[in-house]
Amino acid sequence: MHKETVGTVMITQEQINERAVEIGREIERDFAGQEVILVGILRGAVLWMADVMKNVNLDMTIDFMAVSSYGAATKTSGVVKINKDLDSPIEGKNVIIVEDIVDSGVTLNYLKGYMENRDAKVVKICTLLDKPEGRRVEIDVDYIGFTVDDRFIVGYGLDYDQKYRNLPYITYLED
Ligand code: IMP
Ligand code: MG
Repeated sequence: MHKETVGTVMITQEQINERAVEIGREIERDFAGQEVILVGILRGAVLWMADVMKNVNLDMTIDFMAVSSYGAATKTSGVVKINKDLDSPIEGKNVIIVEDIVDSGVTLNYLKGYMENRDAKVVKICTLLDKPEGRRVEIDVDYIGFTVDDRFIVGYGLDYDQKYRNLPYITYLED
């Protein structure tokens, strides 16, 4: 089996941390005086979730969901499966879904509908990366760390076949 090659650094940890501060301020402004629940999507969002949550000075709880739509392949299947559901009710709550990347939009479109069906008050989306060229369904993304072009991204939580999540920067796989 051939071993994939990782490209050069696209986005550094420092740049990500700076964006997390800015986005944290935006969230504080948008939800001033209110409570929020951050729902991190496992496993890709873990590092970004940690960055964002510590920069939001509001009454906050956190929860996690795990979903799958990708296997080892780099193409979306269009099917979303819930592997771990919410632990706490979100009825009447301000929910911010924290995701690693929006590509086709299928995952977040599904998750947003799922939360709305559970009568969340507001559902917003906060993603580390947005890959608009991959979009197959239209979706409003409220907070975007960085926009990337149509490459397969790894690092800072994002994986290829479960590897590279631990890289402290964002890079891509060479074709
Ligand atoms: P979507 O449903 O196509 O928007 O894809 C969302 C999920 O696909 C993300 O949460 C990632 O797990 C995965 N994904 C999409 N693009 C990439 C990529 O470039 N690198 C790693 N994972 C990706
Ligand atoms: Mg993911």
